[in-house]
Amino acid sequence: MTIEVFDTADDVARAVAARVADALAARPSLVLGLPTGRTPIATYAELRRLHGAGRADFSRASTFNLDEFAGVAASHPGSFRTFMNTHLFESVNVAPDRIHFLNGTAPDLDAECARFEAEIGDAGGLDLQILGIGGNGHIGFNEPGEELVAATHRVTLADSTRRDNAALFGGNPAQVPREALSMGMGTILKAATILLIATGERKAHCIERTVRGPVTTRLPASFLQLHPRAEFYLDRAAASRLRT
Ligand code: GLP
Repeated sequence: MTIEVFDTADDVARAVAARVADALAARPSLVLGLPTGRTPIATYAELRRLHGAGRADFSRASTFNLDEFAGVAASHPGSFRTFMNTHLFESVNVAPDRIHFLNGTAPDLDAECARFEAEIGDAGGLDLQILGIGGNGHIGFNEPGEELVAATHRVTLADSTRRDNAALFGGNPAQVPREALSMGMGTILKAATILLIATGERKAHCIERTVRGPVTTRLPASFLQLHPRAEFYLDRAAASRLRT
């Protein structure tokens, strides 16, 4: 993996957005994997700015989002789909039929996961997967545990993850669904290139373990050590425990 450290979170956002804009310029039909969470908000703002300035054209790109809450409709204010509409899709020129999302209200959630995994394959696989990282080292909604599921699957959310996502549900962790659908670590690791964004002191410990620790299902992000093209974009705070 390569690690780039920037002074501020805004510098990280500018670097990642420029990286994505360059990838779109080099390959207009780019297949992008996208995350939610607080971390990518600044990157999406910068991508909107670059799009407005004519420097990021999504007209031929496809997008696949990492995950969605089970039982939450796309139109729900707490859904990841609503988050993406607000922060990116409504302000750039991605074709609506090339936006791919897991449907948390599908009647058969296992079949929905299989459908989504197949759609990624039909698109030729992910060219560029952007990731955040959960405070417990989760990626997408692949939670720490005894084992990981490789393909897109249903997940039971950790209590800490439900607390982390409470802001989307009126600040009340009890309102956060107990289940979600997520790309698997195998789905993610098949992306040609991975860009991981981490900012803030809160991520410093799990970034240290992700970069320096053993590869373990107890820290799903540690599997990124096995990827040939994983690029980490960190601010000084998130990288603070990497210095010797
Ligand atoms: C959620 C998402 C993850 C994201 C994580 C971190 O759990 N499913 O994809 O990386 O939040 O969120 P934040 O960036 O707010 O710390």
